Amino acid sequence: MSAAIPLTQRLAGKVALITGGASGIGASTAKLFVKHGAKVIVADVQDQLGLSVCKEIGPEETVFYVHCDVTCDSDVQNAVDTAISKYGKLDIMFSNAGISGEMESGILLVDNTNFKRVFDVNVYGAFLAAKHAARVMIPAKTGCIIFTSSAVSVVSVGATHAYVASKHAVVGLANNLCVELGQYGIRVNCISPFGVATPILRKGLGIMEKRKVEELVCSAANLKGVVLEAEDIAEAALYLGSDDSKYVSGINLVVDGGYSSTNPSFGMVLKSHSSSTHPSQN
Ligand SMILES: NC(=O)c1ccc[n+]([C@@H]2O[C@H](COP(=O)([O-])OP(=O)(O)OC[C@H]3O[C@@H](n4cnc5c(N)ncnc54)[C@H](O)[C@@H]3O)[C@@H](O)[C@H]2O)c1
Repeated sequence: MSAAIPLTQRLAGKVALITGGASGIGASTAKLFVKHGAKVIVADVQDQLGLSVCKEIGPEETVFYVHCDVTCDSDVQNAVDTAISKYGKLDIMFSNAGISGEMESGILLVDNTNFKRVFDVNVYGAFLAAKHAARVMIPAKTGCIIFTSSAVSVVSVGATHAYVASKHAVVGLANNLCVELGQYGIRVNCISPFGVATPILRKGLGIMEKRKVEELVCSAANLKGVVLEAEDIAEAALYLGSDDSKYVSGINLVVDGGYSSTNPSFGMVLKSHSSSTHPSQN
């Protein structure tokens, strides 16, 4: 991504709060939003990382870190209130913090505490972000709420029950909020990424090397010749946060290179059937 100032600053004058902004998709989005003229509050639980990410992006007048555990009502309240006291308003809430939880091997072995923890961060955290954003956006009669769901909300990729259920819940929450908040001029949308080699996926796969994870994702991907990166998801957030999408509300923007449109299993069965019945044709 070029550090140059874009010709058109698509978020000039806007204020955004990004949960999970210290790493991966959130950090890339903070960088892109600032590049496009927004003032940004980065909210996360990784304080050292969050502070250094903000320092790298720009001065405090432009980008500010606040400690915020999204499962804690007063932390989320404080993050939103910080946006107001520091920058005067909140235009964009990007509810992006998430965890994958522990690996499961089948419903009978799912750890109940882990299941609840994943819902606590991914769903309750998203709810609190939306609730506190709505608190300041409703009187302003404008605003935009974006959630990070996942491609698992539209296609099965073998992720855990807790994670898949939580990401479906986020889409449901977004749809319902879109209906309630439309009357106040507030748009609500989701972004659903395919695999990006950020810490959450690297940890989930147990592979720490970024390049190896990218290779793995690319070999499974529908769209070949490109690597999905955090910056690509940030571009989707830029679109949904800017006035370019001024009439877009209630969508789940799936950024998966068409993966969810494919299902190769029937074709594979047919291929192996035809090679076993007509071996000479192969
Ligand atoms: N990377 C992928 O392949 C992928 C795919 C689909 C969806 N997603 C979703 O994208 C979002 C961002 O993840 P990422 O890929 O950037 O991973 P990441 O691990 O780089 O970032 C997640 C961030 O969320 C923060 N976080 C976790 N729990 C928190 C809490 N309780 N309060 C505040 N912050 C908390 C972490 O500290 C971290 O900075 C997540 O919701 C994830 O589920 C990721």
